[in-house]
Amino acid sequence: MMKKSYHFVAISGSIRKGSYNTLVLKTLQKIAPKHITIEQLSIKEVPFYNFDLHEKKFPAHVEKLNDAVKKADAVIFVSPEYNYSVPGVLKNTIDILSRSPKKSFDMKAVGIMGASTGVLGTARAQYHLRQTMVFLNAYAMTQPEIMIGKVNEKFDANNQLADAETKKKLLEFLDALAKFSERFKAR
Ligand SMILES: Cc1cc2nc3c(=O)[nH]c(=O)nc-3n(C[C@H](O)[C@H](O)[C@H](O)COP(=O)(O)O)c2cc1C
Repeated sequence: MMKKSYHFVAISGSIRKGSYNTLVLKTLQKIAPKHITIEQLSIKEVPFYNFDLHEKKFPAHVEKLNDAVKKADAVIFVSPEYNYSVPGVLKNTIDILSRSPKKSFDMKAVGIMGASTGVLGTARAQYHLRQTMVFLNAYAMTQPEIMIGKVNEKFDANNQLADAETKKKLLEFLDALAKFSERFKAR
């Protein structure tokens, strides 16, 4: 049985102000059908991981992120590719979240997408991110894949997505992720 509504959390792998990936995330929020809410989780406050950070207690922001992930029906990563891989800020966030006994990613439905100014649209980074999800026992949706290449040509001067094909794919992705998340109980 399909649920009536879905709550996703979304993380951009870029923390710069003018980020195209954050723009894609905000576009998802804007175009999502009424029964899907998407909450952006900010990762710029996450400290560099080391064990001393949480030997006694996890930083409050990290616990907040873990709680949000745990509650969500699915997690969406919208990330750039840096040097053919996952940007350090995003990998660092996943690393620290993964050390919490809350195990927020365990059995969690995950959707991965990304935008780059290059032609391959973050394909290589996405497969690295999928690999990391294996260790967390998170379930990354396989299809549809969204790799937005030449993203700088796909938004207009008002930061509106101007590419109909990409918009259609984003909507298909949200619909597929809602259905996919049904396989994993939100805990
Ligand atoms: C350190 C660094 C490495 C990059 N490496 C890649 C890469 O491997 N593949 C790619 O397609 N783009 C690469 N780029 C270009 C990014 O696609 C581009 O900067 C993009 O706009 C970043 O996403 P953002 O706009 O969300 O910040 C790189 C950019 C930086 C700053």
